[in-house]
Amino acid sequence: MPITILIGAQWGDEGKGRVVDWLAGSADIVARYAGGDNAGHTVALNGKVYKLHLVPSGILHSRVVSIMGNGMVINPVNLAREMQSLRAIGVDITPERLVISSRAHIITPAHIALDSAKEAALGDDKIGTTLRGIGPAYLDKTGRAGIRTGDMLLDVEEFTERLVSAIESTNQVLSQQGRETLDPQAAAQSYLDAAAALRPYIKDTSVYLHQALRAGKSVVCEGAQGTLLDIDHGSYPFVTSSSPTAGGALTGLGVGPLFVEKVLGVAKAFSTRVGGGPMPTELEGEIAQRLRGSGANFWDEFGTTTGRPRRCGWLDVVMLRYAVSVNGFSEMMLTKLDILSGLDELKLAVAYEIDGQQYEYPPVTNELLQRAKPVYETLPGWRDDISGCREFAQLPLAARRYVDRVAALCDVPINSVSVGPERDQLVEKSAS
Ligand code: IMP
Repeated sequence: MPITILIGAQWGDEGKGRVVDWLAGSADIVARYAGGDNAGHTVALNGKVYKLHLVPSGILHSRVVSIMGNGMVINPVNLAREMQSLRAIGVDITPERLVISSRAHIITPAHIALDSAKEAALGDDKIGTTLRGIGPAYLDKTGRAGIRTGDMLLDVEEFTERLVSAIESTNQVLSQQGRETLDPQAAAQSYLDAAAALRPYIKDTSVYLHQALRAGKSVVCEGAQGTLLDIDHGSYPFVTSSSPTAGGALTGLGVGPLFVEKVLGVAKAFSTRVGGGPMPTELEGEIAQRLRGSGANFWDEFGTTTGRPRRCGWLDVVMLRYAVSVNGFSEMMLTKLDILSGLDELKLAVAYEIDGQQYEYPPVTNELLQRAKPVYETLPGWRDDISGCREFAQLPLAARRYVDRVAALCDVPINSVSVGPERDQLVEKSAS
């Protein structure tokens, strides 16, 4: 049963790219199943930093096949560009190594224009999207009006006609809002070169995966975003428009549940969030700045896709517990433990207090969540630099206690932690 599903347990940006890269070392296939180029997965390798938005992180392993599943929304121009820039730095990308589902949906220039228009119309209540056209593309998908990657296999006139008609109908909305409209022909033309470049990569990835699984191959499902941004399970409406949770991996790839062996939740050792929406443990001031970093390093807390500074706070165990229940993690991993080094004490939000009542899970409405006051448990910090630790036993006692306490509060084993951005800066419990 060789599927490992990797899920972000928080609001995205948990460091999933580096974890996928680690798991890919012993996998045959890495498959992305949700989202689009709103994601930014960073992998540091031999001093080089790779920032991937659409192509699965498995592409950096020469023997791994990367799959872009039907659950994704794909901007063909940005994908073709990303493939080209990976090639330029020596990454081998061929139709044998990268397979794109024919059932993923295409993000058109109309979707991007609509994303901006909707955000502008919301004013102070805006979601804070990445403005990549993600929401409008999923809206067209569920409204049965989308254009799919498989449509790039149609003859050029027909594909162009579909794009033109999608852009024309969006223009009506844009002009109603007094916004600049798009030139349908020019916008459609800009997609034709990308469509030609991507055509050889498009296949039925569900059948491909099924056959590979039946042949005993192992698959890592690469989650993007995070559980708390899930369209159903996140703090709606401050969410993305896809299902970046364990169930989403199955529908987003078209594979059956009986192949799943492990569901690995990746959580950062503290909390971060970009965009609007409730975040009960958010901090202001010195500690927030300390967690965020200055922006000088690629691992500092600034968006990989948008460059926005991330909101930072203490680890929210109430939210983690919820992520455990939504995904059924068999195991969790804590990333960026090294960032906590040097803090005198660390806090874990073990419950919320709302109107005098304690909650171990998030309350059912955002209104209540907005009023939630974290109930903190304080643990001692550690001073030592832990970035060189490679065994659990080498970590300071306070760091081990922190990890073990989170595992106990979530009732899920934490068998690995990351202590730096490089591929080898990982500590596995079993290795101690
Ligand atoms: P959208 O996915 O661009 O529609 O954005 C919806 C919300 O999800 C916004 O709050 C974004 O900041 C957030 N979001 C989307 N993708 C990511 C990600 O990869 N990491 C963190 N937040 C994300």
